[in-house]
Amino acid sequence: MDVEQVVPRSNYSEKHRPQFHFTPESNWMNDPNGMVYFNGEYHLFYQYHPYSSVWGPMHWGHAVSIDLIHWEHLPIALKPDQNGAIFSGSAVVDWDDTTGFFNGQSGLVAIFTHADTYPGSDKPRQRQSLAYSSDNGRSWTLYKGNPVLSEPRILDFRDPKVFWHKETNRWVMVIASGQSISIYTSLNLIDWEFASTFGEKEGSHQGVWECPDLFKLPVDNDPSKQKWVLLVSLGDHPDVDSGSKTQYFIGEFDGKTFRNDHHPDHVCWLDHGRDNYAGVTWSDLPDHDGRRILIGWMSNWRYANETPTEGWRSAMTIPRELVLKSTLAGVQLTQLPVTELKNIKEPLVLVKEQKITSGENVLSGIHENTLEITMDLNPGSSEVVGLKVLKSDNEETVIEYNAKTEMLTFDRTQSGDSSFHASFACKQTIKMNSPHERLQLTVLIDRSSIEIFGNSGETVVTNLVFPKEDSNGLELYSSDGIFIHSMEINRLKSVWTNP
Ligand code: FRU
Repeated sequence: MDVEQVVPRSNYSEKHRPQFHFTPESNWMNDPNGMVYFNGEYHLFYQYHPYSSVWGPMHWGHAVSIDLIHWEHLPIALKPDQNGAIFSGSAVVDWDDTTGFFNGQSGLVAIFTHADTYPGSDKPRQRQSLAYSSDNGRSWTLYKGNPVLSEPRILDFRDPKVFWHKETNRWVMVIASGQSISIYTSLNLIDWEFASTFGEKEGSHQGVWECPDLFKLPVDNDPSKQKWVLLVSLGDHPDVDSGSKTQYFIGEFDGKTFRNDHHPDHVCWLDHGRDNYAGVTWSDLPDHDGRRILIGWMSNWRYANETPTEGWRSAMTIPRELVLKSTLAGVQLTQLPVTELKNIKEPLVLVKEQKITSGENVLSGIHENTLEITMDLNPGSSEVVGLKVLKSDNEETVIEYNAKTEMLTFDRTQSGDSSFHASFACKQTIKMNSPHERLQLTVLIDRSSIEIFGNSGETVVTNLVFPKEDSNGLELYSSDGIFIHSMEINRLKSVWTNP
């Protein structure tokens, strides 16, 4: 079957279709894969089922961008072959042709999981394979010697993330292996040597471990204080209300072994919402850029196959810059939308140093469903300050902060359609400090998603909602008035109809 023939073009105006987040033109998408920057382009591959809007035999869909905001869809990069379906994985620039695939030049190598079953049985088999491209990712060749790494003793053995470790002059692979992460090293991406495992009794084991990533970041932008961050996603499990989610560890890595700085029982969640999964970071950003940028799949395995969209399914989060910061709670990973978001902002409201009394909704005139709202306010004597978004007479999503208990609540029980799954309608409560009695929030709204970045990205909440098209009102409320230091609201333009 010719894939291009079964992918109808979209005008991106369907119900719930995000306007500034990445979505496939049609059909099913899950994890982001193979993110790599090369020759001025950000590549984004993704788990893709081109024949249906539910999960199925996995391909790698492909898109490129020059600003992380506007994307150009490219033909499918990898399709299932005799070794199986193409599960998640990563891509790197092989700058020095360590593989020998590029005649001494540089090229792209994808390292991914081939998923099939053992011959004559229905027992899943997951092995690691390579594909390479000498034309900026436009065409891919599967390596003749695939698979390059097998581990028959481990059933769940997938999602390799590879990077070049300068200090030891080797490629390093982190890969999910059952309930732990295995680390392998290689000189040529083809021959892999086992180095260590990490994870037993460390962090949360509420679901199967998937999609790891490992990278180094300075703490507080101080180049002399470097820490390693290990991301690990946890699959859905019936005993866990919140479904699938992502944790991270902070520690040391010597090229072979990762050591967790925290007590093994300590769990750091990447996102406190329900809809940010399998997030990993871009490889090979130039040193002069120096950022570490994450993108996640904005859904949850609990209900991902049932969300009420037609013809397409699932979006990615906004790309986010990751920064390690010392906070009152210790060193923490923070996330903020990449600054390139400025490319699509259209100013709507700017308020500075203004007192607002309770009962007064200063935002009643705004009717939009693709917005960036940034506010820095002082709750004063108000115990409760809130923002209702995507609001109409009978629908609203409520983001409420209790200044006394310092708890942030996200309530999507009245947000719109939640009939597709019993656990979708929910109210989440998250601890969020308000240093110096200031409440600082950036909120991104894109028709069917809401991303909240509290206190400069220390507390992040990402959630889907499925409101009616005309639920587009806004309300800022408080129990006893507030003082706005600054509030900026921008409309965010469609990245599909405004190339
Ligand atoms: C995570 C995941 C990966 C796997 C892929 C299959 O969402 O389960 O572990 O490689 O999805 O689509």
